[in-house]
Amino acid sequence: MADRGRGSLAFTLTVCVASFLVVQADTMIPVPAEQLFVYELQRENFQNEFAPFLKHYGQIYNDPMVFKCNKEFFPDLPRWLRFTQRHPYDNGYLYGTPLQQDLGKNIIEIFVTNKRSYDTFRERLVLNVVPAVNSMPYQAEFFIPLREIEKVLPSTVQEEIKKDIQVAWKTERLHFVNITSALDRGGRVPLPLAGHYEGVYVKLGSDQYYSDCLLRLQTPEHHRECEAGGKTWKIPGDCIACTYPSNCVSWCKSVLIDLSQVTPPPPDPTMGTGILEDGGEFNPPESPPPRDFFPDYIVTVIIPLVLALVLSLILAYIMCCRREGVEKRNARTADIQLYHHHTIHGNTDELRTMAGSRTDVAQPLSTLPMFNARTGERAPPLQSPYPSDSVSVPLIMAQQEPNVDTLPR
Ligand SMILES: *[C@@H]1O[C@H](CO)[C@@H](O)[C@H](O)[C@H]1NC(C)=O
Repeated sequence: MADRGRGSLAFTLTVCVASFLVVQADTMIPVPAEQLFVYELQRENFQNEFAPFLKHYGQIYNDPMVFKCNKEFFPDLPRWLRFTQRHPYDNGYLYGTPLQQDLGKNIIEIFVTNKRSYDTFRERLVLNVVPAVNSMPYQAEFFIPLREIEKVLPSTVQEEIKKDIQVAWKTERLHFVNITSALDRGGRVPLPLAGHYEGVYVKLGSDQYYSDCLLRLQTPEHHRECEAGGKTWKIPGDCIACTYPSNCVSWCKSVLIDLSQVTPPPPDPTMGTGILEDGGEFNPPESPPPRDFFPDYIVTVIIPLVLALVLSLILAYIMCCRREGVEKRNARTADIQLYHHHTIHGNTDELRTMAGSRTDVAQPLSTLPMFNARTGERAPPLQSPYPSDSVSVPLIMAQQEPNVDTLPR
């Protein structure tokens, strides 16, 4: 029983180890340093991964897909590598120029998300940066205004552009060094209209010195013409023509970069003081002389404390021992109230006597209950057509104008 358990455990372990040992068929791509590298992520290839059985039924999908690329175990791509994809229905591009210090293997993870089914697929790409194969001391950067980066990265377009430059440079030995969107150089996002593009900078290099055509880019006449806003499309001398209008170069924004002249290395930094001599022990500096903090203590703690104490004592004296003043004021208020009371009392008495002295005078008619203001006639309360309890008098009557006689007679 125990033997069989151990046997099955061993079998499980073997299977696990075997599955770990299965070598992933990674595609290793050599990438020469100091030269442009472009890798196209083709949606077509990933479409097969997402629907391997659908082909069997002759169904072909064209799904939108987005890519997310990063260096394995890192959140982002290596410094020299960039990724771009304009739209989920377009292919993506990994591109960039590794430098001499970026030599070595880079494992790139690519996560593809199918935006129709939301399936994901992961692929690994091993980029092996190898030392530069082409020496390109003479470089030049050209600005192509009527292009977008994704439209220049396909190799066919790169070849078209290179052919035009080869004619101007009068050499076949040209290689792309870099391709940069003008947006990465502070360019502006164009209007979403036909005929408006972001613009692309392409940098090419060669071991062949510049042709006379290209050297004219450095002449003062060319600069003057550019500043005057002259012909920006044609290099002076008309020694180049762009085969495709969209590949035409804006010569005023193009520059020659000569790397053959060795720039003198920056001078060594001068040593300042405070650098420890080689060997010997570290002697810590003397600790600073002790400082007397007592005056500070007096100024910051004792004086405010004494002031607070004095103020609180004064406040306490005013609150407790000067109550006299408060009582006097209270007494005065009581006097005034008493006086008011007396005057009100006296006034009422006076009014009462005045009212008593007019009992012999007839009461004003308007104070009588039933009185017709127009005729001056008095209606005795008993002759009222309404029952004396007058519960059923319509309320609306009470609201009628007093000078309109509406009472039925
Ligand atoms: C290529 O262009 C990018 C973007 O402008 C820049 O960061 C990078 O340094 C360039 N690389 C080389 C080798 O010129």
